[in-house]
Amino acid sequence: MIRDIQEEILKLKKEKDICILAHCYQNPEILEVADFTGDSFALSVKAAETKNKTVIMCGVKFMAETVKILSPDKTVLLANGDAGCPMAEMMDKDLIEQVKKSYSDYTVVAYINTTSELKTICDICVTSSSAVTICNKIENDKILFIPDCNLGDWVSKQIPNKTFKLLSGGCPTHARMSAEDVKKAKAAHPNALFLVHPECKPEVVELADYVGSTTGIMNYAKESDAKEFIIGTENSIVTHLQMECPDKMFYPLSKDCVCHNMKATTLTDVLNCCKGIGGLEINLDEDTRTKAKHCIDEMIRLG
Ligand code: 13P
Ligand code: SF4
Repeated sequence: MIRDIQEEILKLKKEKDICILAHCYQNPEILEVADFTGDSFALSVKAAETKNKTVIMCGVKFMAETVKILSPDKTVLLANGDAGCPMAEMMDKDLIEQVKKSYSDYTVVAYINTTSELKTICDICVTSSSAVTICNKIENDKILFIPDCNLGDWVSKQIPNKTFKLLSGGCPTHARMSAEDVKKAKAAHPNALFLVHPECKPEVVELADYVGSTTGIMNYAKESDAKEFIIGTENSIVTHLQMECPDKMFYPLSKDCVCHNMKATTLTDVLNCCKGIGGLEINLDEDTRTKAKHCIDEMIRLG
C-alpha cells in the first residue's frame, strides 16, 4: 500500500515538474519520495535553488513560506495545511515593534521559525545550524534574539563578547526534556554520548557532548567512532539514525519528544498535493514578501 502511493507520487512528480522538500523530522515514507531532505537551513538554501514549477513542503508553515519568499513565481504547497510551528506563532509583529523601541541600537535576529509577517521587521534570520556563525559575523555587538530563548542562550554563550537580549519564547517539544531525563538516560546508558539540539533548555544543553541542528546531530553520530548515543531532539531522528547506522545504538532522551505538528503530514497528503486536490497554497502579498526576503537573503549571504 505505502509502496503504491509512493510510486504514484514519483510518477506525478515527474509529469508535473514538482519538487518535494522534506524536513528530517518527517516520517521515513515521506523522506523516501522527497527530492531533498535536511534541516531548516539546508531546506532554505534548496528553496532558493530549485528550478521546478511547483514545490511541495513536507514540514511546517514557516518552511513553506520561506520557499514562497524566495521563489514567488512557483506554486508552493504546504503538504498538510494544518501543520504549524507553535514557536513561530508565539510572537507577533506588534509585540516585537514595542520591544524594539527599548532596544533601538540592537540588531534584531529572528530564528527562521517565525512568520513571514514578523520577519518583515527583523534584520536577519538564523537557523540552529547557522546562528553562531551569523551572530559572530554581524558587526553590531548588541543582538535582540527572538523568539527562542534556549537557542539564544546557547548562542550567547558561544559569543561572550556580545550582548544578547532574549525574550521568553521557545519550542514546546524540545522544552519538554529536563536535566532529570538526562540523568536517567545516562544512568541507563553509561557509555553513550549525549547529542542535543540547542532548542532544549540550558540545563539540558550544558550536559551534552555535542550540540547542533538536526543535520548536525545526524552527521556527528554517523561520523563518530562511538557506538551508543542518547539523542536529545525530535524522536524521528532516533529512528532515522537507527536505520542508517544498524551497527550503532540510539536512545531517545525522552519518549515525549515528538512534534505532532511535524508528524501531521501523511503520504496521502503528499499524493493529494501532487494530484492538485490537497495542501495549502502559500500566497504572500508583495510588500510582506520583499521585506521578509531581506532577512533570509542576509542569512544565506552570511551563513
Ligand atoms: P533544525 O532543522 O534547524 O535543526 O530545526 C529544528 C526544528 O525544530 C525545526 O522546526
Ligand atoms: Fe516548531 Fe519545535 Fe515542532 Fe520544530 S520541533 S516545528 S520548533 S514545535
